[in-house]
Amino acid sequence: MPEPDPLPAPAPRAAAGAAHANGHPDTPRPVPTLPDHPRPGHPRPARPRRAGPDDVNAVRALLTRARHADGIDPLSERFRMRLGEATAAVVPARGGECAAYGAVLDDGTVELVVDSGRRRRGIGSALLTHLVANGEARTIWAHGDLTPAHAFAARHGLRRLRTLHLLSRPLGPTDAGADVAFPTGYTLRPFRPGEEDAWLGVNAAAFARHPEQGRVDRRALDALMREPWFDPADLLLLWGPEGDLAGSHWTKIDPGATVPGPDGPVPTGEVYVLAVAPAHQGRGLSGPLTRAGMTHLARRGLPAVILYVDADNAPAMATYRRLGFASISADTQYALP
Ligand SMILES: CC(C)(COP(=O)(O)OP(=O)(O)OC[C@H]1O[C@@H](n2cnc3c(N)ncnc32)[C@H](O)[C@@H]1OP(=O)(O)O)[C@@H](O)C(=O)NCCC(=O)NCCS
Repeated sequence: MPEPDPLPAPAPRAAAGAAHANGHPDTPRPVPTLPDHPRPGHPRPARPRRAGPDDVNAVRALLTRARHADGIDPLSERFRMRLGEATAAVVPARGGECAAYGAVLDDGTVELVVDSGRRRRGIGSALLTHLVANGEARTIWAHGDLTPAHAFAARHGLRRLRTLHLLSRPLGPTDAGADVAFPTGYTLRPFRPGEEDAWLGVNAAAFARHPEQGRVDRRALDALMREPWFDPADLLLLWGPEGDLAGSHWTKIDPGATVPGPDGPVPTGEVYVLAVAPAHQGRGLSGPLTRAGMTHLARRGLPAVILYVDADNAPAMATYRRLGFASISADTQYALP
């Protein structure tokens, strides 16, 4: 069966933590109540304070502990790239440790995490109260389908806005050996310096209605290209018969990224950003473009591939399922009251 064309693009990892709330009034909102009650046997936790560059190492250690405890990164890439910037807060703990960290980005998105050994002591609620009082907080992301986050959201009266599925698929010799063909006149090759504006143009057009990806500008692109994982060889550009950029498949190989396998975590690559320019949509390009990226990742030795996609993007979900992807977890975005 032919794939739907154009293939709706997956939300990139960078996009997982950002969106304007739909239908939120701009009037001041009530601040969630702070349950400031120390648990028996636990000292009263310190109050949240503004985070700065000096806190970054302690925050990184907290994020590592949380990832081990919960099996998922508590913060999305956008937040990890801006630790201690913007409206960020920490709850300090003994020995220079950090008991909790959270931030509000310019678009009103919040993410926060409490140290796994310090939960159910009111710290998360205190931090949320602090962030709402000090920033233009509108929405909050919870990564992974974790029970504490759902309970925390329910306790604070947060309304579910959006679900982002994390899909995964094993890669093997068949993918590595695949010979992906494009229609006559189309050529796929890696990104070369100087092609940033062409990529930005296609990205903006293809994601014109996407809440985060459509807003990626030159500054954001340059910042992504400075990330340690960035390799121009992984950003595949598809040039059209007229010499214009027809699409791109940015694959991401982050050495630390893994997915659960039968015998423990296995390294994974990612379908990071997939876009077909509107002028080239409807020509059956998205299927081969997706497979070309998967072949690239398989040839780089990756045994698995992941991607993020909005749960309500039914055509994309159906297409990726047909390509053998299955959902392994979900991120939830809530509206703050
Ligand atoms: C979700 C999270 C931030 C909660 O932090 P916390 O400091 O444990 O939260 P609080 O102690 O302020 O809990 C407030 C209320 O949320 C609910 N709650 C929180 N964790 C819960 C759990 N594991 N089970 C049941 N209810 C829970 C309870 O109603 C709790 O009040 P109570 O303890 O008086 O019953 C923390 O578990 C965490 O960091 N998780 C990983 C990151 C994450 O999911 N962030 C997104 C948050 S939306």
